[in-house]
Amino acid sequence: MPEKILVVDDDVDTLRLVGLMLERNGFEIVAAGNGRQALLAAVREQPDLIILDVMMPDMDGYEITRKLRADPKTMAIPIIMFTAKSQIDDKITGFEAGADDYLTKPTQPRELLAHIKAVLARAAKSQMAGASAAPTKTIVQEKAHTMGVIAPKGGLGVSTLALNLGVTLRLRSKKSTLIAEYRPGQGTMGLQLGYTRPEGLVELLQRQVSELSTRAIEPYLVAHRSGTRFLFSSYRPKDAIFVKEGKSFELLTRTLVYMSEYMVIDLGAAITPVGEYTLPQCDRVIMVIEPIPQTLQQAKAMIQDLQEMGIGSGRLQVVLVNRIRSDIQMSWSQVQEEIQHRVAMLFTPAPELLYQAAVRNSPAVIYQSDSLTAQQFAKLADMIIEPA
Ligand SMILES: Nc1ncnc2c1ncn2[C@@H]1O[C@H](COP(=O)(O)OP(=O)(O)OP(=O)(O)O)[C@@H](O)[C@H]1O
Ligand SMILES: [Mg+2]
Repeated sequence: MPEKILVVDDDVDTLRLVGLMLERNGFEIVAAGNGRQALLAAVREQPDLIILDVMMPDMDGYEITRKLRADPKTMAIPIIMFTAKSQIDDKITGFEAGADDYLTKPTQPRELLAHIKAVLARAAKSQMAGASAAPTKTIVQEKAHTMGVIAPKGGLGVSTLALNLGVTLRLRSKKSTLIAEYRPGQGTMGLQLGYTRPEGLVELLQRQVSELSTRAIEPYLVAHRSGTRFLFSSYRPKDAIFVKEGKSFELLTRTLVYMSEYMVIDLGAAITPVGEYTLPQCDRVIMVIEPIPQTLQQAKAMIQDLQEMGIGSGRLQVVLVNRIRSDIQMSWSQVQEEIQHRVAMLFTPAPELLYQAAVRNSPAVIYQSDSLTAQQFAKLADMIIEPA
């Protein structure tokens, strides 16, 4: 199969000339005349390489490069910037945005061809190396220790816990860790960490999920600098319609569990069809509660529902999250009494830390790794890494 190259330039003559030359050299060509078209074509065509002009009216090449790099479906496609801008600063900006190579116009066809071949060869080599060695890639044969995080009502801190627990598990155990947001339309982690298009989950659900292999899922996972990988969910409210696709979530989970050693799933509040089909696959269910009498009534009901689904105390861990400072709050033992269940762990209020971490697009446990909150996450992670 010929290698496919996407050529992006607002100048029709350049497009035609470069396109013809590459076609004569055995490449398949896709052309785009502006930034918007380029982004769409990159996703749709999955080219082996992109040749990108820098100065275009709607979006410059740097911005296009950043967008391509931020999207899991295009982040690995090599990019050569091809432009009349020849200042050293322009090149640095290009490389910083994520370009693999930089070539100034005008150039000899032979020179362009040599750069294309070099970049393609490098990409093929790193792909092969990645398949066998890179720690973030899928090399797992055994099922992940799978944890579902849930709460009897919204806003209690499920996503905060799933995110920081996952990152802490990864940092303390060095094992491959995947954090999956099963919250279509209500994702928060992508935004929290500063990713512009956190749509992986919803895009996967739009495909024929039963045909999804680990290989097909791989491009939708986002690697974070902590070494953790994420399956982010969109925050478009109307995507919440996907919560009714319980079966799809079941199938998706069946494959995802073979893609890491630890998997933390954000299941959000209440037991929706997503939870109904996912919870039975979890080795451990972590339920977040708060020390407020009405919430504890709901928590008690949820413990009962889980029990009826076959998830008893052996698999269930209740975690008490105190989001607000108060002198009149219930004690640990009062809470246990109220829900008739052991509380495994207590988190103290950390509103400032969580706010600052969000502003800096960082998980709290990385933003302040010596904070009390980080220590509490370390304790919870250690209970999972080395069960007593
Ligand atoms: N220990 C804590 N101290 C103070 N605030 C906290 C704590 N844990 C979480 N929060 C805050 O509570 C709010 C809700 O947290 P989060 O988004 O994690 O909840 P959630 O259960 O995922 O909500 P949703 O049901 O909307 O998905 C956030 O503003 C978060 O920063
Ligand atoms: Mg949430």
